[in-house]
Amino acid sequence: MPTAEARHVGSGKVREIFTVGDDALLLVASDRISAYDVVMREPVPDKGKVLTGLSAHWFEATASLCSNHMISVAARDLPDVGLDDLPGRAMLCRRAEPLPVEFVVRGYLAGSGWREYRATGRVCGHALPDGLREADRLPRPLLTPATKATSGHDENITEAEAASICGPASYEAARDRAVAVYEHAAAAAAARGIIVADTKFEFGLIDGEVVLIDEALTPDSSRFWPADTYVPGRGQPSFDKQYLRDWLDRSGWDHSPPPPALPADVVAATRARYVEAYERLTGRSLNDYLTGVAA
Ligand SMILES: Nc1ncnc2c1ncn2[C@@H]1O[C@H](COP(=O)(O)OP(=O)(O)OP(=O)(O)O)[C@@H](O)[C@H]1O
Ligand SMILES: [Mg+2]
Repeated sequence: MPTAEARHVGSGKVREIFTVGDDALLLVASDRISAYDVVMREPVPDKGKVLTGLSAHWFEATASLCSNHMISVAARDLPDVGLDDLPGRAMLCRRAEPLPVEFVVRGYLAGSGWREYRATGRVCGHALPDGLREADRLPRPLLTPATKATSGHDENITEAEAASICGPASYEAARDRAVAVYEHAAAAAAARGIIVADTKFEFGLIDGEVVLIDEALTPDSSRFWPADTYVPGRGQPSFDKQYLRDWLDRSGWDHSPPPPALPADVVAATRARYVEAYERLTGRSLNDYLTGVAA
């Protein structure tokens, strides 16, 4: 594996993507952080390792519920792509043909789900009881698909639309797996005082099989709420970014680039929250994860 040729094929807001030979990808999570859709100039040390470590944790924990694309996060398996400090932040993955739909699972009413419910009483075609408040728990977790917008914001669609985009068999397999993985993670997180309000999954086809790809249950793809401050009827603080958003709000910044320079103590406090998210969700120290990948 390490000898296959690697080629840089894309940059997300946060990750760099390389193809490795014909069948594999290397996803590398940087320490970049965005708030209000703007990337800050200062990196948050170890943030990328937290994101990749969390994905690896959930892929391992749910492999019996749903096969996934992870090959390895071990340093010895990583190809040289000309970047420093890869171990911990890089995941070697099986390359899939992505289904062009985002599989959002919602256990609670927040974000675009709350906005759609308030306007129509429904979310992505699912009828819901009257009188739900913002951040209320839903009667059962719902799959609320969205298109993958190449520019601008993703758009919620109905399950019927998603099934016609993906093909009904692939759609249903991905939906059932998404809900099963969410339910596993929500129960595990609840036992550690964290609510997984909602999360976004991506699926792809590998040799005709529907496989979980991309990242899984990270702060970038999920809303994590501390259970001890949960009060429905208002927006909830997010576990990871609320501290940074609060600081940015107090700074008077108008959310257009360039962002204000982050003082060292704000960066350090933000880093501590990411590390705490990793450690609470996995029950493992970040150092233990990093020692494991280096072995
Ligand atoms: N196993 C895989 N096979 C093929 N493509 C994959 C696989 N895993 C992830 N991808 C794709 O790799 C890309 C990862 O991009 P990334 O999430 O870093 O940026 P983005 O989605 O373009 O933007 P954003 O920063 O808003 O998330 C996505 O297009 C995802 O669908
Ligand atoms: Mg993405």
